[in-house]
Amino acid sequence: MSTDARTGPAPSPTGPLSTIDYSERIPNNVDLAGDRRLQRALEGWQPKFLDWWKQLGPALPTKDVYLRTAIAVGRDGWAHFDYVPMEEYRWGIFLAERDPERTVAFGKHNGEPAWQELPGEHRADLMRLIVIQGDTEPASVEQQRVLGNTAPSLYDLRNLFQVNVEEGRHLWAMVYLLHAYFGREGRDEAEQLLKRNSGDLDSPRILGAFNEATTDWLQFFMFTYFTDRDGKYQLGTLKESAFDPLARTCKFMLKEEAHHMFVGTTGVQRTVERTAELMKKHSTDDIFQHGGIPLSVIQKYLNFQFSVSMDLFGSEQSTNAGNYYSSGLKGRWMETRRKDDHLLVDAERTMNVVENGKIVEKTVPMLSALNLDLRDEYRTDCEHGVRRWNQALEDAELSERLYLPHEGFNRAVGTYSGHNLSPDGDVVDEATWEAARSQWLPSDDDRAAVARLMVPEYEAGQFAGWIAPPQTGINEQPVEFDYVHLKDEGLA
Ligand SMILES: [Fe+2]
Ligand SMILES: [Fe+2]
Repeated sequence: MSTDARTGPAPSPTGPLSTIDYSERIPNNVDLAGDRRLQRALEGWQPKFLDWWKQLGPALPTKDVYLRTAIAVGRDGWAHFDYVPMEEYRWGIFLAERDPERTVAFGKHNGEPAWQELPGEHRADLMRLIVIQGDTEPASVEQQRVLGNTAPSLYDLRNLFQVNVEEGRHLWAMVYLLHAYFGREGRDEAEQLLKRNSGDLDSPRILGAFNEATTDWLQFFMFTYFTDRDGKYQLGTLKESAFDPLARTCKFMLKEEAHHMFVGTTGVQRTVERTAELMKKHSTDDIFQHGGIPLSVIQKYLNFQFSVSMDLFGSEQSTNAGNYYSSGLKGRWMETRRKDDHLLVDAERTMNVVENGKIVEKTVPMLSALNLDLRDEYRTDCEHGVRRWNQALEDAELSERLYLPHEGFNRAVGTYSGHNLSPDGDVVDEATWEAARSQWLPSDDDRAAVARLMVPEYEAGQFAGWIAPPQTGINEQPVEFDYVHLKDEGLA
C-alpha cells in the first residue's frame, strides 16, 4: 500500500511564529538568556565545537560562502541568504513553535498532553535516541571534509558547505537537548559527540554508514540522496515523540534537511544527464575515456549507498522499537495521518525472511516490526528519485535504466545479513557473490576512475565535464553566480 492510501491529508500548522534572537552569543529561540546555568554550559561547549569545525570541518580554505541562515522557524520566509565566512556561521538553537494543545498521538499515552519535562522512567532511552541521532550529524561533516578540493563548480561547492554548516547546526540541536534535560550525563555525552570521529579506529562514529569515507562527488550525491533521507525518516519518527522539546527540535531540522536531499536528487540527476549525453554521442556506455561516468558505475554507487543506508534502520524486528512506540518516545512516519488505532497491540504484518535459500513471507506482530515499517516508507520514497533519473535517460532516448536493488542486497544488519542476495533478489552462494561482486558494487578500479574525473572547477559558471549544469541557481541567483570566494582569490 502506498503512503497516500494509508494516510489522510496533512494537518495545518498551529501556533504563532517566533523569530530568532541573534544578539546572543548563541542565537536561539528558546530564551537561553533566561537560564544562566544552561547558557553558561552551552557557552562552554561552543569553543570546543569551533575547534572541532576547524580541525574536521571543510578543509578547503575559503573567504566566505553564500549561505542560508535560519532567521525564524515559521513556514514562510524562514531563511536569509548572504556571504558568510564559514567559521562565523551563526550556529544556534531553533525549535519549531510550541503548540500548547499538542497531545501524544500514539502508544499507551495516546491523547494525553505532550511532555514538557523529561519523565524519569524514560530518561535513559531518550538520551540514547538523542545521542545516536546527534552522532550522525558531525559524522557526515567529517566524511565530506576534503570534497571541497574537487568540487565540480562553485555552485556545487556552496551546496556542500550549506549541507555541512546545517549538519553542524543539527549537532547543536541535539547538544541543546542533552544540556537542557540530561544534566551532567548529558554534558558528558555532548563532549563525546565531538570526540568520536568518522572512521577513527579507536573511537568511531556509532553507525556503520557514518564511518565510510565520502571519496568523491558521485558518492556525496548518493549520500545526500540515500543517507540524508534515512535522517529524514529518523527525524520523522522523533518529531512524533511525546517528549515535546525533542519533537519540536526535529520538526525544525526536517525543514533544513529538505535541501540536503535536493542536493542529492539533482546531483545524481545532473550526473545522469551528462552520462546520457556522452553515451549518445559516442554510442557506448564505456564513457570514462570521454570524461563521463558510465551508467553501470552510477548503478554500482547507487547499490552501495542504498544498501548501507537500509542498514541504518536496524533489524526488521526490534523489541526496543516496539517499546519506544508503546511508551510514546518514537512514533511512526506520518503517525497522525495513519488510519489505525495508534496502539498496534493486535496488529500484524508480513515480512520477508530467507529460508532454505528462498525468500518466504512470514507474519509478525506489527509492534515488533516498526523498523521495517519505517524502512518500507523510506524505500518507497527512494523510488521517486530513481524514476526522475530514468526520465533523463528516456528523454535522451536511451533504453538503459537505473533501479533500486532488492532490499536484501548487500545487507549487514537484520534478517538478510549472513545471506548473499543479488540486486535482483536471488539468493546466491558465496562463490557466485564473490565472482559478481565487482559487477554489483564499485570496485577499487571504478572508484579510481571516478576519482580521476574529480577535477576542481572554481571558475564561476563553469562545470566539470562529468556533470551537467543545474537548471537554476540558489535563492534565485543565476547559475553563474559567484557562490564561494576562495581564500587565495585575488592573490593571483
Ligand atoms: Fe542532519
Ligand atoms: Fe542532512
